[in-house]
Amino acid sequence: MPPPSDANPAHVPVLPEQVLGVLSPQPGETYADATAGLGGHAEAVARLIAPGGRVILNDADGSNLERAAERVRAAADIEVIAIHGPFSRLPDALEEQGIGADLVLADLGFASNQVDDPDRGLSFKRDGPLDMRLDPTSGEPAADLLARIGEAELADLIWRFGEERLSRRIARKLVEARQIAPISTTSRVGEIVRSAYPAAMVRKSRIDPATRTFQALRIAVNDEMGQLEALLAAIERGAARAVQGPGPDSGLGESGWLKKGARVAMISFHSLEDRPVKQAFVRLAERGLAERLTRKPITAYESETRGNPRARSAKLRAVRIADHLL
Ligand SMILES: C[S@@+](CC[C@H](N)C(=O)[O-])C[C@H]1O[C@@H](n2cnc3c(N)ncnc32)[C@H](O)[C@@H]1O
Repeated sequence: MPPPSDANPAHVPVLPEQVLGVLSPQPGETYADATAGLGGHAEAVARLIAPGGRVILNDADGSNLERAAERVRAAADIEVIAIHGPFSRLPDALEEQGIGADLVLADLGFASNQVDDPDRGLSFKRDGPLDMRLDPTSGEPAADLLARIGEAELADLIWRFGEERLSRRIARKLVEARQIAPISTTSRVGEIVRSAYPAAMVRKSRIDPATRTFQALRIAVNDEMGQLEALLAAIERGAARAVQGPGPDSGLGESGWLKKGARVAMISFHSLEDRPVKQAFVRLAERGLAERLTRKPITAYESETRGNPRARSAKLRAVRIADHLL
């Protein structure tokens, strides 16, 4: 793996060697990065597919997308196409441009610079406006969601997306608090959630009690589960089209967004994400459309988790789209 071009350790991607191991990039290949972020993985892949290769960068966050594109262009003499928007739209965007990918990566969730920026409202550790959108130019900020949602729906959301056992108590506290004043900052959410916890539980808890509620709100604001389901469905459709062809009456052209033999990798950070990825990859194998490159998820080496605690929860799974029905 070439050394990262940026000395800031926050810019080093997770599972760097393992990602290159499963993707196995070859000169001249086309790489589609669904979550370009700060461009760490893309830079490493670009170096290996140059000369002649092509990098398609996608991100919901326009400023990260720009940074990633600059980084890749500086690292390799290679064609770079940047697509701003949710990755659920990436497969169609590629097909519209007649691009078939040999390599696909989705490194889910948020980037370090997003969570570190108090103005994004992604962290309870820093006070800031309660926004949480990965794309600050579209969708509904968390403050607006919290202002309008009913108590039962809020409890359900915190339970489902945060796996939070005290979801009902927390939802009640949040609804009571918003009757006094709108909830518009991260620190206020943190205080309200902590106040829903019995003191003994706070003392015993290894993590801040607000962690799970923040995760739940972020997942809801960015429709993270819907985005993931849409991408996984597009991978299944793309694999079927690559292996079996477009179908006689489909009206579709010969090639789709995934090529035969394409390697597709996904990195998830919690079980809500990892479960659907695993299920989709098992289904692909059962349908004879892909070979699983990882039976068990690949996780970080201890040396990596020491320097980057977030890598501790990273799980990498990958498949290789078949050349013919397996
Ligand atoms: C973990 S970072 C990716 C880091 C990147 N692999 C690197 O090496 O720097 C995740 C990125 O995905 C983006 N993202 C998350 N969900 C997205 C979605 N549904 N559509 C598009 N981008 C998304 C975030 O804005 C963030 O920049």
